[in-house]
Amino acid sequence: MKLCMIGTGYVGLVSGVCFADLGNEVVCVDNNISKINLLKKGKIPIYEPGLSELVAKNFKNKRLNFSSDLKKSVRESDIIFICVGTPTKKGGSSADLSQIYNVSKEISSSINKFKIIITKSTVPVTTGDEIEKILSKKNNKKKFSVASNPEFLREGEAIRDFTYPDRVVIGTNDKKTGKILKNLYSPLISKGASYLQTSRRAAELIKYASNAFLATKITFINEIANLCEKIDINVEDISIGMGLDKRIGGRFLRAGPAYGGSCFPKDTKAIISTADKFKTNLSVIKSVIKSNENRSKILLDRVYQILNKKIRKKKITFLGVTFKANTDDMRDSSSLKMIPWLSKKGAIINYFDPTGLKKEFSKLKNVTHQTTIKSAIEGSDLVIIHTEWNDFKSINFKNLVKGKKFIIFDMRNIYSSSKIEDQGFRYYSVGK
Ligand SMILES: NC(=O)c1ccc[n+]([C@@H]2O[C@H](COP(=O)([O-])OP(=O)(O)OC[C@H]3O[C@@H](n4cnc5c(N)ncnc54)[C@H](O)[C@@H]3O)[C@@H](O)[C@H]2O)c1
Repeated sequence: MKLCMIGTGYVGLVSGVCFADLGNEVVCVDNNISKINLLKKGKIPIYEPGLSELVAKNFKNKRLNFSSDLKKSVRESDIIFICVGTPTKKGGSSADLSQIYNVSKEISSSINKFKIIITKSTVPVTTGDEIEKILSKKNNKKKFSVASNPEFLREGEAIRDFTYPDRVVIGTNDKKTGKILKNLYSPLISKGASYLQTSRRAAELIKYASNAFLATKITFINEIANLCEKIDINVEDISIGMGLDKRIGGRFLRAGPAYGGSCFPKDTKAIISTADKFKTNLSVIKSVIKSNENRSKILLDRVYQILNKKIRKKKITFLGVTFKANTDDMRDSSSLKMIPWLSKKGAIINYFDPTGLKKEFSKLKNVTHQTTIKSAIEGSDLVIIHTEWNDFKSINFKNLVKGKKFIIFDMRNIYSSSKIEDQGFRYYSVGK
């Protein structure tokens, strides 16, 4: 099968290279020419463990190619995956579908034989219907089929998630399309992935409902953590006790900072917007969004208390600034709220992240990127463990920094208090 991935970002590049690795001929297209040029030189524009090796292997054996010529790539392919961004509309809360519709118009003039066009991007219910309308303007309906195939991979685990997914969801009412797509995914299904074929609209909604549910789990345990802090209970005991119930499950029940990233914040807003359009009140998700938006304020209040209400001139270090480990993605990371707020209050901030300097902080006063953990924490008053990178899980703070003892606020509950206090540091965590 000849596949064309349009949008060579976290989703398009990872799924494209994984499809190539399964034996398909794949072209990854992007209108960002410098991205395509980098990829052609074997350079990977994003941080994703294992990706560069897989790209090199499949580029070398000619199953994977890169192009900025969308029309030619579409003409030469059988299955077209749309993997462009669907961010929140500026000044609004619904999904901005301009990238999806622009791409659909371009595809429309390149349909020279039967093609399946699939949204892998997360798109609101009825987007498939709109794409179909755009394509029908120039093409006979027999020449194409529009399907939905939401992607569930997580950044940082993307290759594993794509290769061993819990489920593959295909939304189509067309028998032939369903058969072709089931065949495309058969190597993953035979390794144990559940396969669900449903209507296109249902597939579109499954993605939003799943993300909203996971965001709810995180927010739920964050609120329980707030209660635990007041009554001397360890929230981790609660997570374990709840998670042992198979109806609940232990994943996504770890208290910490606000959820962030390129999906949950925008997708929770977008599903509310869809529900508004269809005059339905998703009150649970509305309160999840509100609670999550307040989460950084709650953690900053704790910082304020920990520092005895004196933030000005305090040296504060952030270990990790991305929204989670194993990614360089800064979209909607809670550090984007915390660091500017602390900088405004007069703190002197150092940060270290395994994925390097972040342009998001370059214009902030007194915010400095450090290239090692040691240089970041030396001389600090407070070290905040913001992201759960492995790099931060076994630091011997006492050996690493001689002299001045700082306070540690472990927002990810990586350490036990006794381990840190034995080294002579004051230690705070979340939900304990
Ligand atoms: N990032 C994730 O973990 C993840 C997981 C599941 C689903 N999704 C969804 O997948 C979609 C893509 O997300 P992403 O994180 O990969 O986005 P991204 O921003 O990393 O990549 C999108 C790419 O599309 C390209 N693009 C935009 N317009 C184009 C055009 N007209 N022609 C060619 N290329 C074009 C951009 O240049 C960019 O490289 C979104 O809808 C997102 O919600 C993302």
